Parts: sequence; C-alpha cells; structure tokens
Amino acid sequence: MSKKSIGEAYLADPRLVEAKKLISEALNDHSSKIEGVKAADPELKQSYESMMEEFGKNRGGKLFYNYIGSGIGKGALVELADGSVKYDFITGIGVHYFGHSHPEVIAAEVDGSITNTTMSGNLQQNVDSPKLFKLLLDQANKYDAGFDHMFMTSSGVMAAENALKMAFQKKHPAHRVIAFEKCFMGRTLSVAQITDKAVYRAGLPKTLNVDYIPFYDANEHEGSIKNAVSKLEAMFVRYPGEYAAMCMELVQGEGGYWVGHEDFFKAICDTCHKHNVSVIVDEVQTFMRTDELFAFQYFKLDKHVDFVNIGKNSQICATIYREDHKPRPGLVSQTFTSSGAAINAAYYIINEVANNGYLGKDGKINKIHKCFADHLDKLSQKYPDKIEGPWGIGAMVGMTLFKGDFEKSKAFTFKLFENGCLSFIAGQNPTRVRFLVPMGAVTEEDIANVCKLIEQTVNEIE
Ligand SMILES: Cc1ncc(COP(=O)(O)O)c(C=O)c1O
Repeated sequence: MSKKSIGEAYLADPRLVEAKKLISEALNDHSSKIEGVKAADPELKQSYESMMEEFGKNRGGKLFYNYIGSGIGKGALVELADGSVKYDFITGIGVHYFGHSHPEVIAAEVDGSITNTTMSGNLQQNVDSPKLFKLLLDQANKYDAGFDHMFMTSSGVMAAENALKMAFQKKHPAHRVIAFEKCFMGRTLSVAQITDKAVYRAGLPKTLNVDYIPFYDANEHEGSIKNAVSKLEAMFVRYPGEYAAMCMELVQGEGGYWVGHEDFFKAICDTCHKHNVSVIVDEVQTFMRTDELFAFQYFKLDKHVDFVNIGKNSQICATIYREDHKPRPGLVSQTFTSSGAAINAAYYIINEVANNGYLGKDGKINKIHKCFADHLDKLSQKYPDKIEGPWGIGAMVGMTLFKGDFEKSKAFTFKLFENGCLSFIAGQNPTRVRFLVPMGAVTEEDIANVCKLIEQTVNEIE
C-alpha cells in the first residue's frame, strides 16, 4: 500500500463520507419539491421586496431582474427567495452550465470546500490545481495544438489582460491591437478600449490603441474574407511593426450571436502571423458551447492561434498558451485565483463534458440545439412579423423579435421573466434575445416548456 498524507486520510474519513451522503440526501429531498414554474409565495413577497430594495440601494442601482436566488433549484429550474420558480436559460450570463443544485457538482464543491483554505492562489495551491491544469491542457491538445502552459485567474477579463501582456512583452515595443467590430472582451481600463461599445468606456482615459476589422458575414462568404484581410493588410502598411495582437471571438456573444467561419479565421490568422502579430482567441463565452470542448477546435484552428482564454462555464478562468509566448518572471501573477470549491466543480464539469456524451455531431449539445432551434423555427413560421431566427450555435441560441427593436426586445425579456424564464438581450441593430442553455441539466421537455412561455410572452407585447 502506498503512503498516504494526513490530508488524503482526512478526505477519505468515513465520517466525511457519511456527512456527504447526508448532504446529498437533504439536497435531493428539498430539490425534488421543485416541479415547475411557480409564482411567488404571497407570504414571502414583502420581505423579498424590501431585500431587493435594500440590495439595490447598497449596490448603487436596481438589479436588471428582480432576482435573488433562495439557494436551491432543480436542473434548469431555480427557486428565488420569494418562493417563485423560473427556468434559468441565461445561467448567470453563461456560468451555471449544469443548472441548479446538480448533485455531482455540489458533491465536487463539498470536496473542495472542506479542505484547509477558502482560496487557492499563485503561491499556495492544493492537489486539485495540478489535476485541473492537466485536464485542460490535455483537452486543449486533443488535436495536437501544442499548447504548453496555462495561467489560472479570477475573471474572463483578467485572462484577456494576461494574454495581452504576454503578447505585448513578446512584441515590444509594438503597442497596438486589432479586434473585430461589435466584439466584447471585458471591462478593465485596457480591455474596455477593445470592447467595441462606446458606453463601456465613457469617461475613461485612452489606455490602448485599437483598430477594428469587420466580422465574418455568412451572406458574403468570399467577400467578407477578402474585405477583412485587405483591411488588415492596410493597417499593417499604415502602422508597420506597431501591432502586437489580434483579439478574436469565434462566435460573437454580447455582439448578438454572430457565428464565424473556419476559412475566415484561417485567413485572418495567416495574415497576422505573416506580419508577426499574435492571435488571441477569447473563448470566455464559447468554451464548451459548440460540439467541441473549445470553439477553436470546432473551427479547426488548433495550429493557428497563440492564446486561448476561457471563463464562465469553466468555473475558473485561464489563459492557455505556448512556450514561445511564455512571459518573463514578474509579468503575470495573482494573490488568489479561485476557491477549492470552484476548482473541484470545474474539474467535474469539464471532465463530464469532454468524456460523457456532450460533444460530437450526435452529442447532447447538438441534440438540444436542434430541439430548441426547431421549436423557434416553428414559432417564427407562425409569427413571421414578430419572430426571426433562430441564430447561434450549440448552447448559444438567439432570436430576433419585432425586427430587432431594442425597447420591445427588452420589454420582452422582463415579461418573459415575469412569466417564468430568464433570458437576456445582445447586440445592436438588430437587438437579439439570447439564451445560454444549461446543457448539463436541460431536457427536451424543458425546451418545450420554455418555448410555450416564449410564445405566450411574444403575444403579450404590444
Ligand atoms: C467573450 C467575453 N470575453 C470576456 C468576458 C469578460 O469576462 P468576465 O466578466 O468574467 O471578466 C466576457 C463576459 O461576458 C465575454 O463574454
């Protein structure tokens, strides 16, 4: 028998095993009482409203939705603290990929939360970190991409910051970046300059020089490739040697669910590399949402990209890169990166999606997408003046309502919330209503129920 540390013996202690069994039983007993969409409990309404008001005041502004969770749910359903139950089809903007109160996710979190510390970080990490790093790098190299390293961090935008810093350091003194029109990358002082939305950088000093090229247009396959490449070439002539990186989302999320194309991205990557410009792929929203674990694998860009940033679904955030972009000591570090609970949940979720029937042409992600898209397609045929679409890919599903009218689309999301389902808006001209589907929990019955709510709500908007 091999020698065990005290820590290993502690985690295998029969009392902990028994305690975890009790947690799991209690969870099941309570969670199973959640059976479907439900209105608020009148007796909880008043205390809920005062809590909302106080929370809004303390936050310095009202929440988008009157949403405060009670701490339990079942699959795609979540209970709010006022006793109401709703379908969660936006998942905290794409984080709760396995829905609410998933027994195995909670078991993984418990394993992580009974260890010695709350947070793990750069200086001190537990045995769960090396395991997660190996899983993610092995998966990123599924088709021999050749990634060597990963740096874990605390948010999607910090993964972007770290990739940008590494690219700038390698390409010093280059100081410009390129991005796609309508992109979203986050909101730090530097990354807010890249995100293509003026209100997100209103009042901020200019910290970065960013130039934009148009995203792929499926209606003009060849034309949009030629146009983007010629714009890139023109930039490289105008500012020779000044560009360090091209930042790209492969499916534009916040921008309105625009899906790119392999040929387009390959042409962009090749042009950038010809001019010694690094390519950063932002998969904070797309990770685990196509029928490959990474969207760069879906678009067959394994050898074409230099950095991949992940977040949201992965529960932890990270920058994945090769040896040739390795930063010099001191450039990237962070006191704490994530909690033991999140690191353990990340391992469970990523391993499950990578190895348990989610990926591939016949995997769950494609099946659920098809089911949702078929329902929306029927609705758009029934109400051609009100609903267009569906748009998106995999776990990202969207539709255009009322010809993309912003106010009506926003009103729709509030009404849909009232009726029992969370969604959100994306993009401008047209505005789209979007869903980030909880793949690890959702069933075809849930999709059918949500589509009934969509139909009811569309007909309630004037
Ligand atoms: C594509 C993309 N990149 C980066 C971010 C920023 O991630 P975070 O909010 O975790 O910093 C987001 C967040 O929505 C995103 O959608």
